[in-house]
Amino acid sequence: MFPLVVANWKMNPLSVREAKKVYTDIKAGIRTIKGVEVVVCPPVIFLPELAKEKRSVRMTLGVQDLSSEEQGAYTGQIASAMVLEYKATWAILGHSERRALGETNEVVAQKVLHTIQKGLSPLLCVGESERNDEGAHYTFVRAQLEAVFAVLKRKDIEKLTVAYEPVWAIGKHAEDAMQSPQLFEMALYIRKLLIERYGRKIADHVRVLYGGSVKSDNVTDIVREGGVDGVLVGSASLNAQEFCTVVAKVAGVQTRVSNGALRMGV
Ligand code: PGA
Repeated sequence: MFPLVVANWKMNPLSVREAKKVYTDIKAGIRTIKGVEVVVCPPVIFLPELAKEKRSVRMTLGVQDLSSEEQGAYTGQIASAMVLEYKATWAILGHSERRALGETNEVVAQKVLHTIQKGLSPLLCVGESERNDEGAHYTFVRAQLEAVFAVLKRKDIEKLTVAYEPVWAIGKHAEDAMQSPQLFEMALYIRKLLIERYGRKIADHVRVLYGGSVKSDNVTDIVREGGVDGVLVGSASLNAQEFCTVVAKVAGVQTRVSNGALRMGV
């Protein structure tokens, strides 16, 4: 298992031509970077075109949401079978920008369950909108995670990746990202919840990422001091050069998952 860097392009760019350019530039830029896994999640409409590009062992495609339904009368939704046809193997689920549109913890949990059942990898986003001195953010994140734990079978937990994205830190400048000591505490808390419920062996396979104003300037600190296994990158992932620098920097940090011990099941 390697650290993971995920690009969330959100509703960008506006043309397939630009999408292809960023995608191929990222692919070329990370060609020689070893020891890190990269996933690019464009708007689904660009998938058919991007899927035509030659596959790269280091980089896969994902989507930014996925229906929990197989098929049918679900206006505007996208089924797992549709995206699998275009080689997308990851799905960002429960992003705060989708939760803001009304997705509940239970809806997100069903999406995670369905995604795993269909053989895709879910990237479950959790994170509070605000913090207070009583630590309400811990309770909030725990409820988001427990809704998912409630529907997943024990054997499926290790297929999960969690992205901790405090809503207040999204879409800002590098200096507004979460400070690494606070991130370290939350990453530890998420890991503790996993360990308490499933034991160390299973919990160790769940990567915990951070998202929220990650840039090439702050990523080293975030990953090294924040104790996470990678990052989810929004706006900085639309600039191929900047994103490739983020990937290179993550590859340069010794993380919990990068020494190969987990990969070998030690
Ligand atoms: P940002 O977005 O990097 O632009 O803050 C991150 C996200 O929302 O996934």
